[in-house]
Amino acid sequence: MTSQATTQRPTLRSQRVNQITNEPHAKLDALVKAHAPFDTQASFARFVVAQYLFQAELVSLYNDAALTAIIPDLPARCRAEAAKADLADLDTSVPAPVPGAVDNPTQAQALGWLFVSEGSKLGAAFLIKRAVGLGLSETFGARHLGEPAGGRAEGWKSFVRTLDSLELSPQEEAELDKGALEAFNRFTVLLEQAYANSAELA
Ligand code: HEM
Repeated sequence: MTSQATTQRPTLRSQRVNQITNEPHAKLDALVKAHAPFDTQASFARFVVAQYLFQAELVSLYNDAALTAIIPDLPARCRAEAAKADLADLDTSVPAPVPGAVDNPTQAQALGWLFVSEGSKLGAAFLIKRAVGLGLSETFGARHLGEPAGGRAEGWKSFVRTLDSLELSPQEEAELDKGALEAFNRFTVLLEQAYANSAELA
């Protein structure tokens, strides 16, 4: 191996996906903040609508048998029910599905989506602290941001360890990246939609 090849050798797979989603993450972070979800419960409820829709679209991936063979605790990681309970706590009705959900992804692509959904639990550690300021908690209104069973850091580390240990072809690596980027795009769409609908209702 040449020294150039050594320098160019990708870091861990999870680090690569992290890198390529850095910019979409920064944009989404800014977009979330622009909607000031922690100013009022009404604004937070719109954020939960987006979170619920995103999680609801991923239910079939979290319960996929082949993916669960790779990540045994995958079904327990799903937050669709928690987000649904948050909606009820916030007196907000369950939103209708928004066209354009992920449909029949390849396994590697699905792992890219799950990477983003699981990674979002890290930012949730910061978000739940703000939600407490609105009188909410991991047992009321902000359940989906709560500490996962077994711990936030450990849950993420074990997901990443598994992801990094898989044998993937170059095509699958590309599908994984694609899935992660699609997930960020999708959350952005759902967030915009959630707040646009609140403007219509106002
Ligand atoms: C739908 C996907 C995601 C959403 C909506 C999201 C949202 C956010 C927001 C709003 C913050 C800012 C929290 C604050 O400053 O109060 C944040 C922080 C954070 N997010 Fe995400 N995130 C997502 C995905 C990810 C992914 C995939 C990762 C890791 C791979 C990640 C890792 C982090 C970390 C470590 C922080 C805290 C420190 C920092 O800002 O870098 N997030 N996230």
